[in-house]
Amino acid sequence: MKIAVTSASGKLGASIVKHLINLVGKDNVIGVARTPEKAAYLGVEIRKGDYNSREQFNAALKGVDAVLLVSGMDAPDKRIIQHRNVIEAAIQNGVKKIVYTSIVGAEEGNAFSPIVQTNRQTEKDLQNSGLEWVIGRNGIYIEPDLEYLETYIKEGEIRNCAANGKCTYTSREELGYGYAKMLTEDKHHGQVYNLVGEPVTQSQLTGYMNQVFHTSLIYHSVSVADYKAERVAALGDFIGTVIAGIYEGIKEGANDVSSDYKVATGRAHISTIDMMKVFKETLD
Ligand SMILES: NC(=O)c1ccc[n+]([C@@H]2O[C@H](COP(=O)([O-])OP(=O)(O)OC[C@H]3O[C@@H](n4cnc5c(N)ncnc54)[C@H](OP(=O)(O)O)[C@@H]3O)[C@@H](O)[C@H]2O)c1
Repeated sequence: MKIAVTSASGKLGASIVKHLINLVGKDNVIGVARTPEKAAYLGVEIRKGDYNSREQFNAALKGVDAVLLVSGMDAPDKRIIQHRNVIEAAIQNGVKKIVYTSIVGAEEGNAFSPIVQTNRQTEKDLQNSGLEWVIGRNGIYIEPDLEYLETYIKEGEIRNCAANGKCTYTSREELGYGYAKMLTEDKHHGQVYNLVGEPVTQSQLTGYMNQVFHTSLIYHSVSVADYKAERVAALGDFIGTVIAGIYEGIKEGANDVSSDYKVATGRAHISTIDMMKVFKETLD
């Protein structure tokens, strides 16, 4: 069984490839990447695939039995078409199954919602494709927050507009394991899984960071409007607005969802503090 993983040059794609190699061996895994040279280190066959090019995916998915489609990074209006390029190339090549990395979040009500909507449209496209499908809705990755630690330390605080909202974080490491299982086991066909850990508030998150990284940060809750203005000034209109929308969604409960991780993988998702410890080990 040949399994292709798109966006293999990215961090999530690479984690999925790594876990798949453990389950089925490197000869059965193909990485597909827009920039193949960035994925060469993975030690599997790498093929070229830009989501904007149906032709590249027609070639990349030859002889492939199952595809892991990592959701794209472009603006919402482009993503649906990009994902369709992969789904249609899969159908043309006789691929049997697609597993898609979707997202947890509110479809209406905040500045992240347009992105959630594009993910939901791709979910529908897959469900109507005639292929076997499995959909994972990813929680927010914990790693980018931890990579931001130096800034938090400089500022003495974690500041955002999530207030007391709870967020079910996950990690690329946990997701890599989950998607490898969903790709290789038939019992997941036709399922939509929330791939998330336990719900935590920003205050709890701050406390766990203090324990693991020996910091003394506080959590500072600010209004949505203030946080948006700050992020837009720091990151520009598009990303700044999206980040503020993500934290607004957390405030409103959009990320306080029940976890299907154990059903998807056969084991419990690790705790938030343990995800931090795993991340810290990668730094040492
Ligand atoms: N759950 C979360 O917290 C969260 C956070 C951020 C993003 N995401 C979503 O999760 C996805 C994967 O995240 P990640 O951590 O792996 O991000 P990452 O490390 O930044 O990697 C992004 C990947 O997307 C690829 N890519 C971008 N445009 C492409 C295109 N037109 N065609 C093919 N590949 C393209 C990049 O390829 P190159 O190497 O060629 O640039 C790279 O492999 C993202 O794309 C985004 O949809 C989720």
